[in-house]
Amino acid sequence: MSFRGWYPLALSRDIAPGTSTGTRVHGSEFVIWRDDKGGAHVWEDRCPHRGMKLSFGFVRGDHIACLYHGWQYDTAGQCRYIPAHPDLTVPKTIKVPRFSVAEAGGVIWGCFSEEDDDAPPAPKLPVAAAALRSIFADCPAPLLVERVGLLDVEGLTPDVSTIDDRILEVRLGGNTLIACVQPVADKESALHIVAMEELDAAQMKPLALWAEELRRDAESFARKAAIREIAA
Ligand code: FES
Repeated sequence: MSFRGWYPLALSRDIAPGTSTGTRVHGSEFVIWRDDKGGAHVWEDRCPHRGMKLSFGFVRGDHIACLYHGWQYDTAGQCRYIPAHPDLTVPKTIKVPRFSVAEAGGVIWGCFSEEDDDAPPAPKLPVAAAALRSIFADCPAPLLVERVGLLDVEGLTPDVSTIDDRILEVRLGGNTLIACVQPVADKESALHIVAMEELDAAQMKPLALWAEELRRDAESFARKAAIREIAA
């Protein structure tokens, strides 16, 4: 699978300073981590030593340390410290592949096809007033996108405009949401949803329920399609 342009990976809110998490795009694994100064990083999720996922590791200041043998990597992906050989000057070749990262509209984005300096311009999105939630669905991304515009829940009828193939504007119950589409794998997808207006808890609840129902609805359609395929 070739990568093209920028992919939404997580709500900015969900990656706090000093934490890391794993994600996938088209089945490839990446670690997202945030250093103690707030900088976000997106790298290959694989330690160069013996392949442990770096997303299982620990962020300490501006380094991430692998869980297995504790090798430490700085924000450039360069290994700086090997606990078993504390006096070693670590060879420059021990480095984790890292990718362009941007934060726009309350979402962390990664670009996997280009070198840092050659990445296309990051998505231009207004500053989100509130992060609603991310949903993760066992269905292909195009099906999830299709269902966004078709699902009425308790009188909430979405009106969807496509900004590009990974960004939808959804007007719902008097609110404007931006839903960013992550193709996790062939049959898995995610939507990272933010609101353009401030929302209190009472306003947030029906929108969060709509998002949850959207996940169930899309997964149900995917299951039915799979059954039809088997029966055909
Ligand atoms: S596998 Fe990461 S330090 Fe050994």
